[in-house]
Amino acid sequence: MPDRFYVTTPIYYVNDVPHIGHAYTTVTADALARWHRLLGDDTWFLTGTDEHGLKVQRAAESAGRTPLEHADHTSARFRETWDLLNVSFDDYIRTTEPRHHTSVQTFLQRVYDNGHIYKGTYEGLYCVACEAYYTEADLVDGNLCPIHGRPVEFLSEDNYFFKLSEFTQPLLDWYAAHPDFVTPEGKRNEALGIIRQGLDDVSISRTSITWGVPVPWDPNHVFYVWYDALINYATAVGYGSDDERFATWWPATHHLIGKDILRFHCVYWPAMLLAAGIDPLPYVHVHGFLLVGGEKMSKTRLNQIFPADLVADFGVDGFRYHFLRDAPFGPDGDFSYEGMVARYNSDLANNLGNLLSRVATVVGKKCGGIGPAPRADSPLAAVAAEVYEDTARGWEKVQPSVALEATWRLIGAANAHLEANEPWKMDPGPELDAVMGDALEVLRIVAILASPAVPDTCDQVWRRIGLTGTPRSQRLPDAAKWGGYPGGLAVEKGDPLFPRIKAD
Ligand code: MSP
Repeated sequence: MPDRFYVTTPIYYVNDVPHIGHAYTTVTADALARWHRLLGDDTWFLTGTDEHGLKVQRAAESAGRTPLEHADHTSARFRETWDLLNVSFDDYIRTTEPRHHTSVQTFLQRVYDNGHIYKGTYEGLYCVACEAYYTEADLVDGNLCPIHGRPVEFLSEDNYFFKLSEFTQPLLDWYAAHPDFVTPEGKRNEALGIIRQGLDDVSISRTSITWGVPVPWDPNHVFYVWYDALINYATAVGYGSDDERFATWWPATHHLIGKDILRFHCVYWPAMLLAAGIDPLPYVHVHGFLLVGGEKMSKTRLNQIFPADLVADFGVDGFRYHFLRDAPFGPDGDFSYEGMVARYNSDLANNLGNLLSRVATVVGKKCGGIGPAPRADSPLAAVAAEVYEDTARGWEKVQPSVALEATWRLIGAANAHLEANEPWKMDPGPELDAVMGDALEVLRIVAILASPAVPDTCDQVWRRIGLTGTPRSQRLPDAAKWGGYPGGLAVEKGDPLFPRIKAD
């Protein structure tokens, strides 16, 4: 039985357009999905858009559209961006879809029937940008939202409340029994810190707005956007429509999220799942922010960077590689254009691009354009075996930067091997063939191992060294074992994979 892997991104609000922060999570999820497909796991990759709530209602009003028109428009922009970035999602959910409404109503009706929801009055300080209430202690300078730095508003309304307070102990028990429930460790501790302070009940419905999923037992209310949004992950694998499908995928769920939504995913969501009688809980992997000039990107700060602008300079794979390799998953990272140029030139142009071009040139000039087979006892075989282990561990731990650093060690070793042997100075013959066969075998293995990050490039490498099919049709771990390059294949030089870029 193959393993299963179900990976999700947050569903993005349609009041904003996609920037590199959204792309960071989505490309990471895509690379993980691609890695798991290589392993032969049954893989399902979900992304989508979050389309309800006051924030969207207001953004639509100011754009002169109905909320649904606005959602259609922006949801399409997210989709186009993911297509541009070669994101291989299996399903794209929109919370305005009927399948989602059905699932939300089924889920929360169950929580209600299980006695975890009651009616009360809510008065509080609300940040529209976060779609969340704050206590005074949370605020900055008395009335500013701690995330957006904008004034909060006083709201009072009849609400349904979820008895989150009842779940303090069950959550602590769950965390204790499942040490890898939330990663990395620092983010797990942050979530535990919130739970240990003791949890208050939370309001989950609104009467003040209509743009949402109606509460099935009291249609004057709609569910507050977050309680509808979180359920998307369950909707997409059949909750409320196909119980069997849900039961097979749910234990394999991995959520990727930014730290801004840790409280919702690591505290409220697991409690809601327990309240609905769903066990086991999903794994949650939390990353930091991409900062620009030390600040979080936002519309109001006018410091957003859009993927298409960087793709124009670096190509799709240059974009993907940079964020996967240079923004370690967990801590915050500062985006810099100069850093992106430096990484592109060193890893892509000089290391990978150069290896392919050197190999193809020498094979063209001295081996009649036909790639020789590798040696079984090549000194690079041991490096390749170790690199495979480290690469696999990096992806397994949701640390793409670690995985790619490992894969690039093999490229570095092959370049060093060429420099030590100087095949461009050797005469044609078995010795030269051995050196070139080894380098071709490295290219074959690298084309598989790097394909989750730079899929188009790896297809190119694969084709140019004469192999048929694609890296993605290979199965790990066997395909990474030394000796798979058969030799006797036509090798093509072609244009440089990654022309060097000058920082200006
Ligand atoms: N709609 C909610 C999520 C609901 S999930 C059930 C939401 N949407 S959002 O559009 O604001 O997207 C938030 C996510 O985008 C973050 O959690 C993170 O994954 C990503 N990022 C947005 N800005 C980011 C950075 N500056 N840096 C890194 N990731 C960021 O919250």
